[in-house]
Amino acid sequence: MKRKVRINKVAIFTLITIILVLIVGCTLALNYFGKESVRLKMKGYSSKVIDKIIKDEEITKYALNNKKDNLLIELINVDEFKFSNLDKYKSYKKDNKDVTSKDLVYLVNNDYTEYDYSPNLIEFINSKYYLKTRLDRYLAYQEDHQDLEVKEIIKRVNSNIDYDFYTNVEKTDTSYGYQMICNKHYNIGTYVPSNIVSVASTYLKPGYGGYLDKEVYAAYIEMYNAAKKENLNILVQSPYRSYNTQSSIYNNYVKKDGKEKADTYSARAGYSEHQTALAIDFATKTTTGLSNSDFGQTKEFKWLQDNAYKYGFILRYPKGEEYITGYMYESWHYRYIGKEAAKIVHDENITYEEYFTYYVLKK
Ligand code: DAL
Ligand code: ZN
Repeated sequence: MKRKVRINKVAIFTLITIILVLIVGCTLALNYFGKESVRLKMKGYSSKVIDKIIKDEEITKYALNNKKDNLLIELINVDEFKFSNLDKYKSYKKDNKDVTSKDLVYLVNNDYTEYDYSPNLIEFINSKYYLKTRLDRYLAYQEDHQDLEVKEIIKRVNSNIDYDFYTNVEKTDTSYGYQMICNKHYNIGTYVPSNIVSVASTYLKPGYGGYLDKEVYAAYIEMYNAAKKENLNILVQSPYRSYNTQSSIYNNYVKKDGKEKADTYSARAGYSEHQTALAIDFATKTTTGLSNSDFGQTKEFKWLQDNAYKYGFILRYPKGEEYITGYMYESWHYRYIGKEAAKIVHDENITYEEYFTYYVLKK
C-alpha cells in the first residue's frame, strides 16, 4: 500500500513536469515563430533586409502578408525609397527593365513616369543648369541635333535657341529689376525706367551724354575710380537709349547695311538692353568708335575682363557666344546685374541668357 502511493507520487510529479516543460516549450516556440523577423526570415528575406523592413510598420505588414518581394528587397536599400510609391515603382520597372534601383526611385519620386528610361534621360537630369520644365524641349532639340552633347543642348534651350530669334517672344518682366532680361526673345515694349540720373561730363567720352539707372551709375563710378588708380579711363559712350532713339538708330543701320546685317549688331526698337538703363557702351579717351579692333585692344578692356564683375557688370555679348546672345561680339557693351549675379556669370563663364533662365526664371 505504501509503495503504490510512492509510485503514484513519482508518476504525478513526472507528468506535471512534462506538462510544464511542454507549456513552456510551446510558449517559447509560439513566441519564436510568431516573431515578425522570424516569419520574414521564413519567407526568404535576409537579415539585413529584415532590419530595414521592421523599422516601418506598414512595410512589415505588407511583407508579412505577401510573398517575398524582390523589388522591395532591391529598393529598400535606396535612401529615398518611399513605400507609398511601391506600385508605381513596380509599374515603371515593368516597362523599363534596365532601370537601376537608384534611378527608379528617383524617377518615380520626381514624377518622370511618363518618360521612358534611358541613360540619356539620366544624363539630362544630372547635368548642371538642367530644368525639368524644359525637358520636352531638350529632348525635341536633341532629336534634330543628335551630334550635340547634352550640356550644349541645355545651354541652347535655356537660351531659347530652339526658337528662332524674334519668335515666341515674351514680355520682359521689369519687376526683376537689375536681373531683368531684354534680348531677341524678350521684348521690353515702350518701357521707360524710373530712377535715372544724368551722367556727369567727367565720365563721358567727349561729345556724348545721357542717363543711367541710379544704382548702375554709382556702381560704374566705383569701377571708374578703381580703374583710374591704374591710370585707366573707362568712359561712357552710350548709356540709356529710349525706344524712339533705338528705333532711329536701328532704322539707320537697316538703311545702310540691310536688315539681316543690322540685326547682327543692332537691336530692334523694344529689344535693346540700352532701354533698361542698365547697359553701357564704354570707350576710352583715345578710342574712336565702338569697335573690337579698337576698344577691344585697350588696357581698359583687359582690365574690365578681370574686374568688371566685382562692380556688378558683365560683358554682355562675348566672343563665341553670338549664336546664344543673338549679337556679334561687342567688347564695349556691359550690363549691370549686381555684384552677386555678376560673380556667378564670371565664375561659371556663362552668358546672361543662361544665367537668367537658370538662376532668375528657374523654369
Ligand atoms: N548693340 C546692341 C545689341 C543694341 O543695339 O542694343
Ligand atoms: Zn551697347
